[in-house]
Amino acid sequence: MTKRKRVVVLMSGRGSNMEALMAACGEPDYPAEIVGVVANRAEAKGLETARRAGIATAAVPHRDFADRAAHEAAVSAAIAEFEPDLICLAGYMRILSAGFVRQWNGRMINIHPSLLPAFPGLHTHRRAIETGCRIHGCTVHFVTEVMDEGPIIAQAAVPVLADDTDDALSQRVLVAEHQLYPLALALVAAGSARVEDGRVVHEGAVQPQAGVARLVSPPGWREAVDLEKLARMTP
Ligand code: GRF
Repeated sequence: MTKRKRVVVLMSGRGSNMEALMAACGEPDYPAEIVGVVANRAEAKGLETARRAGIATAAVPHRDFADRAAHEAAVSAAIAEFEPDLICLAGYMRILSAGFVRQWNGRMINIHPSLLPAFPGLHTHRRAIETGCRIHGCTVHFVTEVMDEGPIIAQAAVPVLADDTDDALSQRVLVAEHQLYPLALALVAAGSARVEDGRVVHEGAVQPQAGVARLVSPPGWREAVDLEKLARMTP
């Protein structure tokens, strides 16, 4: 068995992306494991989900701290306890300082509900509908100092339907998010996604086909990750 990368998930609420990552980590040949979940709200539903699955959690409510820097220092300490290799932001609704981001450069990834660089920030689904987009989707990217920017690891597209509401479109995107995030984490954990000149290069990954785009690019994590190479990784 190869050594799995230790992952801490940071989140603020529902935690459905965290659940998708948990499910993937339950697969015996998945190259990562969730060793801890940290939330900035004690009442975050995802904390309870993680606890029920036997995953260690830490609640670090931002309201308990005098300022942003003090809160982030406490979050950082909570993360360090878990000795992670990688951090996954999954609906973590706090802005991270440049210093924190630099510390985790190349080892922290985020999922955002739009096809970046379109629609960084909030209310992406409403903005996509209002703009008249025919395609919307989600992106997993390495985190850099600029919010919702950074080298793109993988993206998934969904159609925008004529009678779409915010809710309907966000549900459709969420289904794609749950497929995309496990794929992107597998690529990073397996060492197949490398940043070169500010862009991600996928080594050994199955490349997307030319022509009509697939829903998820690249495709599922099993196809995208070189399992033989993984098996050769030293424990
Ligand atoms: C997701 O839409 C994610 O893309 C965004 O925040 C939302 C979190 O949802 N960053 P959940 O907590 O994972 O259910």
